[in-house]
Amino acid sequence: MKLTVTSGAKYAAILGLGGYRPRRVVDNAEICTMIDSSDEWIRTRSGIIERRWASEDETIQMMSVAAARKALDRAGIEPGQVDTVIVSTVTHLYQTPAVATTIASELGSKSAAAFDISAACAGFCYGTAMADSFIRSGASKYVLIIGVERLTDMTNRSDRSTVFLFADGAGAAVIGPSDSPGIGPVVWGSDGDQAPLIQQTEPWDAALAWDTDSYRNTAGESNWPTLKMEGNPVFKWASYTMAKTAAEALDAAGVRPDELDVFAPHQANMRITDAMFRALKLPSRVVVARDIARQGNTSAASIPLAIEALLESGEARSGQTCLIIGFGAGLVYAGQVIVLP
Ligand code: UT7
Repeated sequence: MKLTVTSGAKYAAILGLGGYRPRRVVDNAEICTMIDSSDEWIRTRSGIIERRWASEDETIQMMSVAAARKALDRAGIEPGQVDTVIVSTVTHLYQTPAVATTIASELGSKSAAAFDISAACAGFCYGTAMADSFIRSGASKYVLIIGVERLTDMTNRSDRSTVFLFADGAGAAVIGPSDSPGIGPVVWGSDGDQAPLIQQTEPWDAALAWDTDSYRNTAGESNWPTLKMEGNPVFKWASYTMAKTAAEALDAAGVRPDELDVFAPHQANMRITDAMFRALKLPSRVVVARDIARQGNTSAASIPLAIEALLESGEARSGQTCLIIGFGAGLVYAGQVIVLP
């Protein structure tokens, strides 16, 4: 039997991008009330001056919808035109349903295919690769990809290796058909042998200690799982191995380092960004995203938030080429060259 198959647009591109930054600004002095550290140590080791932490009302749903509305508006696309919503998050605390479904519904993308992905800090790049493929295969026409985290819900406030780094926020992109190539080939992968380097301390059931008589959870907050990280090995892996992946993404897109306009890596640590910039031998005129200084590390949200900041400040412009690369828990990674909306 012969099946009919679809094919879609020749090319896909990011049509609009938007972010949401929580209201509350937490500076290094406040962090130093929680751990034995100093403003100087945090600035020199991570590049972070302050970060944004979400308040109770700034939920995964709320931040995602706010970022998505901006992205849709800038793309000139109505919510009803979106046929696919992909949300990348590791901090949506409901196992099911996927938060993408309720986000699609609140936006007015009511019959859109909607699902969540778990690709940690590589999530925005994973989602961008999926959107590009869906559009070119004909499975989708307009895809909304959202990277959103409330990492502080899973951060131990007395953990010196994570509490100064992790932050909250959302970034969204509308991806659709284009007359010219707007998303280069993805270079992606994983290394599960290194999974213990960044992981949840306990499975969710450890948070529960059911009293079989009262059916009450008697564990209290002490068993609540958080994220733990062996920072230094991750730092080395990100600085050296990920620079090679980024170089492969440039090569796959046929863009030479001296032709690139903008470099927007996952905002994990300013020193990782600097090490990758040097390893890639990028010319000094290339604009580099340094959003981590004021925003902290927001995992899947960090790349779209960083790009939005560069576009809003005028440091980067529509039509420029931008190398993005995400890397994190898994370990997972993905990078590609995009054309800025
Ligand atoms: O987003 C997902 C992917 N994540 C990343 O890419 C994060 C990668 N890792 C990092 O960004 C860095 O490893 C950190 C910023 C987390 C840590 O920087 P580091 O240069 O790797 O520091 P370290 O862990 O090797 O520790 C160096 C020193 C140690 O003291 P001694 O043994 O040299 O005396 C630590 O005890 O710094 C000390 N230290 C601190 N001091 C003040 C560790 N944490 C702190 C702290 N404040 N918060």
